[in-house]
Amino acid sequence: MPSITGEVIPFYEVDVTNESKVNAIFSQHTIEGVIHFAGYKAVGESVEKPLMYYANNLMSTIAVMNACLKHNVKKFVFSSSATVYGDNAVPFKETMTLLPTTNPYGETKAMCERILTDTAKANPQLEVTLLRYFNPIGAHKSGLIGERPNGIPNNLMPYITQVASGEREYLQVFGNDYDTPDGTGVRDYIHVVDLAEGHVAAMKHSKPGAHAYNLGTGKGTSVLELVQTFERVNNIKVPYKIVDRRPGDLAECYADAKKAYEQLNWKTKYDVVQMCEDAWRYETAKQSVLISE
Ligand code: UFG
Repeated sequence: MPSITGEVIPFYEVDVTNESKVNAIFSQHTIEGVIHFAGYKAVGESVEKPLMYYANNLMSTIAVMNACLKHNVKKFVFSSSATVYGDNAVPFKETMTLLPTTNPYGETKAMCERILTDTAKANPQLEVTLLRYFNPIGAHKSGLIGERPNGIPNNLMPYITQVASGEREYLQVFGNDYDTPDGTGVRDYIHVVDLAEGHVAAMKHSKPGAHAYNLGTGKGTSVLELVQTFERVNNIKVPYKIVDRRPGDLAECYADAKKAYEQLNWKTKYDVVQMCEDAWRYETAKQSVLISE
């Protein structure tokens, strides 16, 4: 968005599983590096449509990497996920052996990491960075860009903002009998702007081989803590009901954030207070756009 970046960036809308279309774009520009974000990301949908997830997430990664090899692009940054750690003990550390994920979406991330790691081994000039995202929330502070899920939100923060705005009646809190301080699930929420800056750092500090980094704050926050923080900082109620656990959810998931700090010179700047303020600012700005449409 030029009003945020101050730059006009060429944009092409293509299916990135289509290698010839990807190659055509690579032929038109001198590309220093690629950040590959494209992929399906809904956990529940991936259980219902596994082939769609494997085909899309794997083929897009293979097609974009093939184009990099063909056009001699060395730097490749991949959007991976903390889900690749499976049910390891927290905090999750990059040196841990990865455990099975609980759904096809998670498997696509683990498989893409392997595909890219093998490709880096076979092509020593490549600099592959695997960024394991924890739970990105919030919005740009301008209120101009943020999260607008299609249909009923799967994730916690967009659900909270839609309950606060009155679009949905109440939040369902999935379980309060986990072995956590208040019984609700604990996650490492990271502001989307911090996450974006993690990619810039990854590009700057990339090196030959394939290297994985956690993008998280290193701090866990429970569902109820996030709800209470949101209510307090935005001065608005978020009605909720405790319901059964959601299948496949872990009790706790948070990062050991040292490696990214030491090797990428990156750490998070924002806390959950700012994440809650920015998410709500975007939601209220979005409501006014929808009303005026
Ligand atoms: N939760 C609720 N109610 C909701 C939604 C979520 O109580 O309506 C709870 C969940 O049980 C969990 C926490 O809020 O304890 C966070 O849930 P999210 O759905 O927001 O996020 P997840 O941690 O389940 O999953 C996210 C991404 C995945 C990614 C994973 C990595 O959605 O893509 O983090 O750890 F794989």
